[in-house]
Amino acid sequence: MVRKKITLITGANGEVGHGLIRALHAMPGALPIVVLDLRGMDEAILPLVDTSITGDILDTDLLDNLMSEYEIDTIYHLAALLSTHSEFRPEAAHRVNVQGTINLLHVAIEQAAWRDEAVRFLFPGSVAAYGMPDLATKHRAAPVPEDDYLHPITMYGCNKLYDEHLGRYYMHHYRQLAARPHSTGIDFRCVRFPGLISATTMPAGGTSDYAPEMLHAAAQGQPYACFVRPDTIMPFLAMPDGIQALLALAAAPRTALTRCVYNVTGFSLTAGEIAARVQQDFPAAQITFAPQPGRQTIVDSWPARLDDSAARRDWGWQPRYDAETAFRDYLIPTIRQQYAPR
Ligand code: SER
Repeated sequence: MVRKKITLITGANGEVGHGLIRALHAMPGALPIVVLDLRGMDEAILPLVDTSITGDILDTDLLDNLMSEYEIDTIYHLAALLSTHSEFRPEAAHRVNVQGTINLLHVAIEQAAWRDEAVRFLFPGSVAAYGMPDLATKHRAAPVPEDDYLHPITMYGCNKLYDEHLGRYYMHHYRQLAARPHSTGIDFRCVRFPGLISATTMPAGGTSDYAPEMLHAAAQGQPYACFVRPDTIMPFLAMPDGIQALLALAAAPRTALTRCVYNVTGFSLTAGEIAARVQQDFPAAQITFAPQPGRQTIVDSWPARLDDSAARRDWGWQPRYDAETAFRDYLIPTIRQQYAPR
């Protein structure tokens, strides 16, 4: 039996999934897309995928069935519980974020063995993998490279960091004591994202959510109370650049890659700067600041700036949008369209 060759996307109904599906669908010669998500796919995205499966990445029977039906060429494993949500259910988050990832890594190993060809495994890492020791260090530190300050204070950050290690382990060291150790065939590639801001979708349960929430509230004429102080700074990336990063890393020749995990970043802004920028285009926006100590502590533990020079060097990463153009050319015009009266 010939199995259909596909790209598998987990957590496909999330923000990154939507953008990724649109981009993959528009690529000439792209493989059919099979998506897996706990919730059924949104109507608007459904026509762009070959098959939509509503199910859980912890359901190993379901994953076994997938393997028997398809030849999985590339996996974008996006399913995860974000940082704020994870703090309310840390053990559940661990199951989804870690065991779920192991399950998908296992799928990749099995698939690679069957087809005797590597399976590319694209994984979204997170700025939450970092933990700056204190605010003074955060403000003083140079843009943080991949291997510094890795002391996450959230379950999500711990999970993402460990997942990166698991990807590296399964790619290079799995069954290293076997009589004849051989490659597992996983080609694990991780983009470590800063806060992503989309003009068309909203995040669910993250801690960088104040930035998109502020913007979407203003565009809809709703008041917004920001849950961090105005001086709170962290790195961000416009969603189209995030999608582009995943696609570019997926397309990079293996020989060009010197690491498994790459930082990418667009621009760093304070919450106050974002509010001011939003107010420029939506002068009636009512933005106030009502910091929540818990979420404030989380964002304070994330670096102010990320060093993405390894990605620039190895696979030509270059964000299209900086702080100015992200708002001027993408966020503001797209969001105006999004909420324009029909
Ligand atoms: N945006 C994510 C979060 O806030 C960070 O990876 O959880």
